[in-house]
Amino acid sequence: MSTTTATASRRTAKASRKKARDSRTAFGLEILNSNHPEVRKLKREGNWPYIHGHKFWNSSFLIMNELRREPLPRGSRVLEIGCGWGLLGIYCAKNFDARVTGVDADRNVFPFLELHARRNGVEIETEVKRFERLTVERLRDFDVILGADICFWDELTPILFNLMRRAGKAGVKQVIIGDPSRSPFTDLANRCDETYRSARVVARSIARPVRAIGELLIVQP
Ligand SMILES: C[S@@+](CC[C@H](N)C(=O)[O-])C[C@H]1O[C@@H](n2cnc3c(N)ncnc32)[C@H](O)[C@@H]1O
Repeated sequence: MSTTTATASRRTAKASRKKARDSRTAFGLEILNSNHPEVRKLKREGNWPYIHGHKFWNSSFLIMNELRREPLPRGSRVLEIGCGWGLLGIYCAKNFDARVTGVDADRNVFPFLELHARRNGVEIETEVKRFERLTVERLRDFDVILGADICFWDELTPILFNLMRRAGKAGVKQVIIGDPSRSPFTDLANRCDETYRSARVVARSIARPVRAIGELLIVQP
C-alpha cells in the first residue's frame, strides 16, 4: 500500500470512529450525542433548555419498547407532552405514520427536536405550552398522549392528574406516562388507579440502548 493510500484509509477510519462517538442508533432512530457538531452549534446559538430538557431521558425508550409490543394504529394523532428533544414523538411518526405534536413549556428544546426530526426524515409540529394550559378543546385534536420523564416535582402530580381529567373529557383514547418511579409519579399513578378502572401501572426494564428501569402508567381516561 502506498503512503498516500495508507494515510487516506487512516483518515476514513478516524472519521467513522468520530461519527460513532457523536451519534448512535436506537430503536431505529439516529440520535445525536451532546458532542455532535450540530448539537454544539445549537448550544452556541444560545439554545439552552432550562427545565431538564437538555438531553434525551431514558423513559422514552421504555415507552418505545412498549409501543413495539403494542403498536399504535397507523395515522394516530399523538401529543407528546413535555417532549424535550422529542425522540418519542419522532419514533411514533416514523413507525406508525403518526401525526405528532410536541408541546413543552420551554421553547429552547425545539431546535433540538427539529434537528432530530430532520435527521430521521419526519415532521413534527411543535407548540410552546404548559401542561396546565392544554384545554379540553385542544386535547380533542389527539387520540393518544405520551409523556416520558415529566412527573419529577411534587407540584406536577395534581397538574398531570387534572390534565388526565381533561383528556378524558376530550375523548383521548390512551395516555401513557413513563418514569423511573419517582414519588410524584407514584402519587399520580395512585390517584389514577383510584379514579380510572382502566388504569394500569406496569414495571418495565430494558438493557439496550441503555439500561433503564421504570414504570409506565397506562390509562384510557
Ligand atoms: C426531564 S425532561 C424530559 C424530556 C423528554 N420527555 C425526554 O424524555 O427526553 C422534562 C421536560 O418537561 C418539560 N416541562 C416541565 N414542566 C412542564 C410543564 N408544566 N408544562 C410543559 N412542559 C413542561 C421540560 O421543559 C422538559 O423538556
